Amino acid sequence: MEHLTILKGKNIIIGVTGGIAAYKACELVSSLVKSGADVRVVMTEAAQKFVSPITFSALTHNPTVTDMFSANKSIPHIELLEKADMLAVVPATANIIGKLANGIADDCLSTFLLAAVCPVVIAPAMNINMYQHAAVQHNISLLKSRGIHIIEPSEGYLACGTKGKGRLPDVSILYKEMIDILQQKKDLMGIRVLVTAGGTREPIDPVRYISNRSSGKMGYAIAECAKARGAEITMITTVHNPINVDRLIQVETAQEMYEKVLAYYYEHDIIIMAAAVADYTCMEISSSKIKKKDDILDIKLIKTPDILAELGEIKKDKILVGFAAETDDIECSAMKKLNSKNLDLIVANDVSQKDIGFGSDNNQVSIFNHNGLIIKTPCLTKKKISDIILDTILETDSFIVLRNKKRSDMD
Ligand code: PMT
Repeated sequence: MEHLTILKGKNIIIGVTGGIAAYKACELVSSLVKSGADVRVVMTEAAQKFVSPITFSALTHNPTVTDMFSANKSIPHIELLEKADMLAVVPATANIIGKLANGIADDCLSTFLLAAVCPVVIAPAMNINMYQHAAVQHNISLLKSRGIHIIEPSEGYLACGTKGKGRLPDVSILYKEMIDILQQKKDLMGIRVLVTAGGTREPIDPVRYISNRSSGKMGYAIAECAKARGAEITMITTVHNPINVDRLIQVETAQEMYEKVLAYYYEHDIIIMAAAVADYTCMEISSSKIKKKDDILDIKLIKTPDILAELGEIKKDKILVGFAAETDDIECSAMKKLNSKNLDLIVANDVSQKDIGFGSDNNQVSIFNHNGLIIKTPCLTKKKISDIILDTILETDSFIVLRNKKRSDMD
């Protein structure tokens, strides 16, 4: 019943484009209306070949917008968009995704999309080959990096007779994701967060390097969640992935990460080190490719700077959150790192398990403070884990002091 309160009185615009899944938009619109939302539907010309505008007018009790001049007003989009709480395109074809990514506004829906300042949600649905096409994937990445919410298609039988990822998810999933977006907390407004991600690469010679299995997914998930909760984000990463953050700095080695983190440290309130920083780097980097000669090749390694430990020494009022990638004796090792690096929190994950940690979309973590274990999560998506980490940070004494200080600075 909670969703009834969230949707009651909300102004939601649903864009419908020309795909077989357009029929599912009818059920979605009906659910939103039943929950108390005032829904307006904007249809492209192709969408009208699948569902009649009359269907949506009957479901919403509002006229369906089918062209720029159909609402007896010359610019209906401005008036509707001014009070919109959300604009969701369900289903979204490759065509409308391409138009939005490239700033094309040649019909009513694409014009609405460019003029929208409310949260925009895109639910792609199309043939699997179209969905996987480099151009479509590039456009989707671009939209994500601009803060547009993408509801991933689900896998299954597609209307074209093939099987794969490209189906519009069930209406219950679309409905829930829309509610989650409307409910998005903004509890990190005015807070500056520095996040690191990915495994560093330590060069051996011009073609080889030493690295680890970190994909950067955990760090990216934290950055995305903190951004959605209103924080200003600086991302220092070894993995390039377009994302909606305020600053994205790419580095390669532990030394480069050290220099950048130290350079930006003072401008931030919270530092979350999710990166897998190499503990050792090559003492000498060969300037030419090392030739295959002897049976054994000796490479001398030297310790890298411990970034977190150094931040812990100059800590002041900053909130420091480290990760502990462990394979055994997790609690003891995590507590040791928390204390030796002077951290507020440490997030321990068991990287010996293949289905979590490195490279996976999921993780299972235990979060510790100086008193010991605070929370042990079940296996969840890295996005959900990120929200739990952020919730835990918000409950620390250091964060409460920080927020009170920010409030009194504003008075
Ligand atoms: O990137 P994914 O594929 O999503 O995988 C996520 C992850 C497993 C990499 C992530 O969840 C994680 O555990 N990151 C920390 C990995 C690590 O380096 O752990 P550690 O126990 O070696 O280091 C402890 C902490 O010190 C870490 O916060 C690390 O960033 C930091 N550190 C380590 C070495 C160093 N020279 N400087 C550091 O600051």
